[in-house]
Amino acid sequence: MATQLFPMLDPNYIDNPEPYWQQLREEAPLYWSEEFNFWVVTRYEDVDNFAKRPEDFSSSSGPGGGLRMDDASAEDVVGFLPMIQNDPPEHTRLRSIFARSFTSRRITQLESEISGIADQLISDLQNKSSEGRELDLYKDFASPLPVAVIAKLLGIPLEYYERLKFWNEALGVGVGGSYTEKQRFNATTEMNDTLSEIIEEKRLNPAGDLISSLVKLADEDGEQLKPNELLGFCKLLWIAGNETTTNLITNAAVVLQEQPEILEKLKNNKALIPQFVEEALRYVGPVNGLFRRVTRDIEYKGKKLRENDNVWIMFASANRDERHFESPESFIIERSPNDHLSLGKGVHFCMGAALARLEAQIAFEHLVDVLPGFELKPEEGLRIPVPVLRGWIKLPMIRKV
Ligand code: HEM
Repeated sequence: MATQLFPMLDPNYIDNPEPYWQQLREEAPLYWSEEFNFWVVTRYEDVDNFAKRPEDFSSSSGPGGGLRMDDASAEDVVGFLPMIQNDPPEHTRLRSIFARSFTSRRITQLESEISGIADQLISDLQNKSSEGRELDLYKDFASPLPVAVIAKLLGIPLEYYERLKFWNEALGVGVGGSYTEKQRFNATTEMNDTLSEIIEEKRLNPAGDLISSLVKLADEDGEQLKPNELLGFCKLLWIAGNETTTNLITNAAVVLQEQPEILEKLKNNKALIPQFVEEALRYVGPVNGLFRRVTRDIEYKGKKLRENDNVWIMFASANRDERHFESPESFIIERSPNDHLSLGKGVHFCMGAALARLEAQIAFEHLVDVLPGFELKPEEGLRIPVPVLRGWIKLPMIRKV
């Protein structure tokens, strides 16, 4: 089979992967890449199936799995992450403990806080614009919003914010190249040390935040939640919840520029924003796919998968599968049902889904009023050069005259 079927690192592929996915779904829905040494799964039915069989398709190889590139992926640097890299029954144990603190009530309580952060960022952006300074939707809005929200959720004090930005930049899987592996390793060490300090501080002075609640749980029930698991969970929330939400905001903003009639519709009827966010997740979801490791020799639809093979399950391709969605290439706000796979499926279904949706909804409640006055410049921007993710790490914008 021609390697062109899956030129994963080619900038043309990163810019416009859909035609490649469509060809794979058509001609080789379960494709063994000789070049990269893993299976690529692209049809909805199969992605859905694999995600629901953790006993056959283990998460222990980590979200980046077999993906190896010149640039070390963040997974190599940050080390083991609990839960997302665990299989049942260990996964079940951890998830049920974390779910006791990371509740929907805690997320709902953040609503006005998130609105306040978005207000502030928009006002800073407008001020920068009046001063004639350069603007970037990624840097000025989409990136700082989730950082501030997760810091608030975890209870990380304001004085740490500058360091948080550095972790985010250095660990962000999207950074590709601007930090060396050593710098990223240092960022991880610093992150571990700082989070450990904060955990200790919360032990002495508990507050109403998530870390305090988890510390209490660990202290009361040390048998169940070990200190390294608590630290790992904080790290996981940081890594899983920041860049992803940022990418959803930038990707969806680009859609609004490409299809101004949608922007107009949302501006006139903000009640449509939750459905818009859902369709944006399907259409330009931030996580193209994640890895699994085959736990035993398996025959699946005529293909022989061997124990320890890595499998890339492509959520984003499944979301464009014409066998599952009507007119998958069209952005249809009213699409119903919209059972996309952008937040995963099965036992690892995104634990931050409600928070991600809330943040994106609030972000667009603000942005739909502001974006008509600006022009995004994706042609001068920079896409995340990592095939696991879809998003921007630079998205300049200018005021329209
Ligand atoms: C639009 C934003 C987001 C997207 C697209 C997204 C996507 C995903 C996906 C696809 C998975 C499944 C992983 C797998 O199957 O291996 C996942 C898991 C997870 N996500 Fe999200 N996520 C987002 C935001 C968040 C946020 C805001 C948080 C928390 C603050 C979060 C926390 C988690 C956690 C803890 C898991 C692991 C769940 C488990 O292994 O049981 N995510 N996410």
